[in-house]
Amino acid sequence: MNTHVKTESAPVSLAPIPFIDVASQRARLGSRIDEAVTRVLNHCRFVNGPEVTELETKLAAFAGAKHAISCSSGTDALAMLLMAWGVKAGDAVFCPSFTFCATAEVVPWVGATPVFVDVLEDTFNMDPRSLEAAITVAKEKGLTPKVVIPVDLFGQPADLDAIEAIAREHGLKILCDTAQGFGATWNGKRTGSFGDATATSFFPAKPLGCFGDGGAVFTEDDDLVPVLKSVREHGQGVDKYENVRIGMTGRLDTIQAAILLEKLSIFEDEIIARQRVAARYNEALADVAIVPSVDPRATSIWAQYTIRLPEGVRDALGAALQKEGVPTAVYYRIPMHRQPAYAHYPSAGNGLPVSERLSGEVISLPMHAYLDEASQDRVIAAVRRALGK
Ligand SMILES: Cc1ncc(COP(=O)(O)O)c(C=O)c1O
Repeated sequence: MNTHVKTESAPVSLAPIPFIDVASQRARLGSRIDEAVTRVLNHCRFVNGPEVTELETKLAAFAGAKHAISCSSGTDALAMLLMAWGVKAGDAVFCPSFTFCATAEVVPWVGATPVFVDVLEDTFNMDPRSLEAAITVAKEKGLTPKVVIPVDLFGQPADLDAIEAIAREHGLKILCDTAQGFGATWNGKRTGSFGDATATSFFPAKPLGCFGDGGAVFTEDDDLVPVLKSVREHGQGVDKYENVRIGMTGRLDTIQAAILLEKLSIFEDEIIARQRVAARYNEALADVAIVPSVDPRATSIWAQYTIRLPEGVRDALGAALQKEGVPTAVYYRIPMHRQPAYAHYPSAGNGLPVSERLSGEVISLPMHAYLDEASQDRVIAAVRRALGK
């Protein structure tokens, strides 16, 4: 692995490669999207329209889950579950530190305490041994361990076998955060079918994204469904204007559901395309950087293609690639337990060294289903040139 970056530019300047290409997908779907939106504009059921129910049925079938409940974002999907389960002050909710902030953000919303857990260096996902250490810390602090939120970071499912065993032993509910992993598999089953429930996001940059904000909850639990639907509608009871619990405006717009139905119809094909890009990157970059490794029990949806380089080299690489029209991104530069708004919450006892190291080493390359081989080769050549290979 290289420890220096060459800063000279590529010989010719080319148009920038999109980091995520929403426009090519839009062009592929073309009039199908226009017609789907027009149908909603014509029937005018902008909230709770028929496309919402149809999407929920199709999402559940896709994930292999009993129930899918659509909602307004991935963040709200997480929050709705904590609210539906009655998570409250004094409860501990275990979150990886190396994640997008929404995973932990919803925990203080319900008055509970996020307790940060370290991740594994090879998969970027929750370290089961660190989870055990965090449970001990939570108990020492007088908190009641209630929920663990494994995150499928960058598109690869967390080690659900190990996490399930620990959750069972300690009576924790499992809330899978597959905002980045929807479409991936663990032991041959799609995410959405694990744990007590799953939250996902349809933010436009996600592998399955809408044209705005959106999300969904998946669960096998029949009793949870009416509670989630009530939370989604201001805690409504049998009568629309009876409020039996504290809720929110958590619905997915019908227009977004109509768009997602079209996108879901090509998602399988896009998953294959994403996997092809990742395989080519892996092969071409393994000798210059630490390329992502996928657990043999998993497939990744490659929400991000993230390599690791020694601290310092990563940022120089980003600057060199930028000059060649190859965008990069750093997810995440600051682990949650170091964020000003979260640093006072407890962590597993050892200072979370892996999360800290990864935040200095990771850099993500352009990744989407419409990245053709010529563009992949441009990315690969630019990375290799910058790293002196
Ligand atoms: C791991 C993770 N959890 C939750 C979310 C929140 O999803 P949304 O942006 O739809 O609220 C995201 C979005 O980026 C995410 O990456």
